Amino acid sequence: MDFTVLTLFPELINSFFEHGMIQRGIDKKLITGNCVNVRDFSTDRHHKVDDKPYGGGSGMLMKPEPLKAAIEMAKEKSPCSKVVLMTPQGARFNQNKAFEMASRNKGLIFICGRYEGIDERVYTTMIDEEISIGDYVMTGGELASMVIIDSVARLIPGLLGCSESFKSDSFIDDRLEYAQYTRPEEFEGLKVPDVLLSGNHEKIRLWRKRSSLQRTFLKRPDLLEKGKLSDEEKQIVTRWCQELEDLVQ
Ligand code: ADE
Repeated sequence: MDFTVLTLFPELINSFFEHGMIQRGIDKKLITGNCVNVRDFSTDRHHKVDDKPYGGGSGMLMKPEPLKAAIEMAKEKSPCSKVVLMTPQGARFNQNKAFEMASRNKGLIFICGRYEGIDERVYTTMIDEEISIGDYVMTGGELASMVIIDSVARLIPGLLGCSESFKSDSFIDDRLEYAQYTRPEEFEGLKVPDVLLSGNHEKIRLWRKRSSLQRTFLKRPDLLEKGKLSDEEKQIVTRWCQELEDLVQ
């Protein structure tokens, strides 16, 4: 899958492509990471990429010509890719969106706005989709594009060491991930729950399900409102309620 980022700060993006699992994915040719400096497409003597908004107002806008030329070049290199504008006005990114993007496997060209935004004519003619990573405003779209690439790339088969890893991720089926422990068995007086050392796979599965439900209930109850409880989850919750009742009696 091709990831292309159009930016005025290529160092930020290139460094991201050169580290961790993303670099590994690139080395294994599972993904490509391409960075395009929009300034290279300015024909202006001073390589200007911004200008004042017509009608006045504060701040500057990204000029249309260099941006259009950069998008065209990126599309030429990766014709199936979708052009995505990073903007706080876009649809909110989440794990479902990450799955959708990874399974479409079509390639993504990210436009990272700077200044007050981009010229409306580029926006209306060249952008396929607008995405926001949350209801807050950053100085540019670079961090947002890296958030998206990171979460989409790790879903591409073969990129994570263990192909099953993401199946227990938080937000799968609207539940948070269960509690996890590694060695030592006892750390500062706190012991690993016995069931995890038991080797009984069914008991471990049920313990994890309960841990996942408890965490979701305590940290993100809004997720439980969205998805109904399965029969097994209802049983777990009933037992949990019973235990709490016993505790207060
Ligand atoms: N650019 C600035 N703020 C942003 C946000 N919240 N999401 C995506 N792109 C942005």
